Amino acid sequence: MKTIAIYSQKGGTGKTTTTFNVAGILAKEYGKKVLTIDADPQANLTTSFLRAEKEEKGDNFLYLNSEVTFEDLFVNPELVNKAIRHATFSLVEGGSAKKRGIDIIPSRPNEIHPERTLEDINFGIESHIIYEGQLRKALSMIKRTRAHMYDYDYCLIDFAPTKNMLAKDILSTADWVIVPTTMDNNSVNGIKGLTETFEEVRREKNTSLGILGVFPTICNKNTAYDNQTYELLRESLGNLLIDTPIRYSTDSKWAMDFGIPLAYNKKSAPITKDYRELVSYIVERTEE
Ligand SMILES: Nc1ncnc2c1ncn2[C@@H]1O[C@H](COP(=O)(O)OP(=O)(O)OP(=O)(O)O)[C@@H](O)[C@H]1O
Ligand SMILES: [Mg+2]
Repeated sequence: MKTIAIYSQKGGTGKTTTTFNVAGILAKEYGKKVLTIDADPQANLTTSFLRAEKEEKGDNFLYLNSEVTFEDLFVNPELVNKAIRHATFSLVEGGSAKKRGIDIIPSRPNEIHPERTLEDINFGIESHIIYEGQLRKALSMIKRTRAHMYDYDYCLIDFAPTKNMLAKDILSTADWVIVPTTMDNNSVNGIKGLTETFEEVRREKNTSLGILGVFPTICNKNTAYDNQTYELLRESLGNLLIDTPIRYSTDSKWAMDFGIPLAYNKKSAPITKDYRELVSYIVERTEE
């Protein structure tokens, strides 16, 4: 299982949209078995991938019946196999939702019960010592069981926009990290601090963390501004720039709203082609 962190300390750079659609392309077009992890208490990835389950069972479903979520793994890593759920969706309006080769370890949406999310569990230094390494332990326990064939090719982790100790701990479980950035100066400047964060993780926790690079998202190359910013990125990042920009398109918003990744019902949309190029780069680098 190759684990890839989709990370940026800045909010709204397309991390969740990227996790969702990269998972879709890997499953649909490459036939890969994909586990996604929602490491963000906003739970946007969970809401999209488990949309059908939520509609069936109600908004509160992850708080019922002792359901296990990402947050719980920091206390009980051995529950990891129970935390894994299948993403299901139907490709036709009103059809029955089916499994698609994409699984998710969900996060509990914090607007429902804020007291039971990660934000509550762990952000102080002392509590961090207790929870450090627990996710790594959990991921190492994912195994084949009779009920589910957990034999994943890829694990994609969608991060919250932070660079606290928890984020570094989660980063330390990854083999690779990839960074989406939007086309504005604040985002571009924010990237400079990132390599330091990655170096820290490498030095302190995970010497083998590989940096796939930085790719532009929500990009409008028809504007002079975005073009100029793209050139700035190229100059400052050099070979860390992944030259496969993801264009602005409302197709990605619809996809998240309906809970269906672009690869399944927007196969020839221009943004799907953009994501396809990104995935091709990811597969090439991670399988080399
Ligand atoms: N290529 C795109 N074109 C148009 N809108 C996009 C695109 N990618 C993402 N968006 C929109 O931009 C917003 C932020 O995207 P997303 O939620 O994926 O970012 P994020 O980095 O996960 O945010 P956060 O840091 O809050 O977790 C969302 O409204 C999303 O629908
Ligand atoms: Mg997000």
